[in-house]
Amino acid sequence: MELAEVMRTTFACREFTDQPVSDTDIEAIIELARFAPSGGNRQPARVVAVRDEATKHSLRQCAEPSMRVYLAQSAAGENPWNSVYPSMVDIEAIWNRSEPVTSLDYLEAAPVLLCIGADLSLIASLDRMLDRVGLISGASVYPFAWNLLLAARDRGLGGVLTTAVAGQESVAQEILGFEPHVAVAAVIALGHPTRQLTKLRRAPVSDILRWERWGPEEQPEG
Ligand SMILES: Cc1cc2nc3c(=O)[nH]c(=O)nc-3n(C[C@H](O)[C@H](O)[C@H](O)COP(=O)(O)O)c2cc1C
Repeated sequence: MELAEVMRTTFACREFTDQPVSDTDIEAIIELARFAPSGGNRQPARVVAVRDEATKHSLRQCAEPSMRVYLAQSAAGENPWNSVYPSMVDIEAIWNRSEPVTSLDYLEAAPVLLCIGADLSLIASLDRMLDRVGLISGASVYPFAWNLLLAARDRGLGGVLTTAVAGQESVAQEILGFEPHVAVAAVIALGHPTRQLTKLRRAPVSDILRWERWGPEEQPEG
């Protein structure tokens, strides 16, 4: 496929056929993803490919509390889990509920979960002294994760990047065999898509780009 087409059509795929994802596919995808950049070229990404049903179920359980809160905040009209404005929902009460979050079914339905660890001992977290949520560390691992999804799309596969497992990171680290300094950056559900989206809903360039300094969008003269 043309690069531009891959970039325009790599959507968040959460519905998969029963067709398994081969070892060859997974190795070929990682073979391309590894060319992603990372700070100082330290290459902190680690991948555990999970096919075992019980392990998938345990990872889904790790994701449930934070996803339950996400959905409640969303329903309350908030930007879920944002670190700028306080939440009006009772996070603790919602976290501790026990009903399963059906919207996470894809974590068990996907033929394989690619669990991406980020070795924090290798990452230059240049914003660690700032009084805001850390952002820079992720820049050494998410280009890898996105490369992986682009490579998957190019092979006719589809997937979705999820981060909800991080809500119970220490449990997930234990499940996956990651040491405590290896953060669980993402769990990517991967498989053969049941359908292919070709028109993704995205903001136009005019919402995203300003020249020289950020400010309101310039109105055309006349
Ligand atoms: C950092 C990040 C976290 C995400 N977490 C989840 C998640 O927990 N569950 C989920 O279903 N999708 C998750 N997604 C997928 C987004 O919802 C998806 O990329 C977005 O809605 C655009 O979807 P589209 O490409 O199909 O238009 C995540 C995506 C990113 C980049």
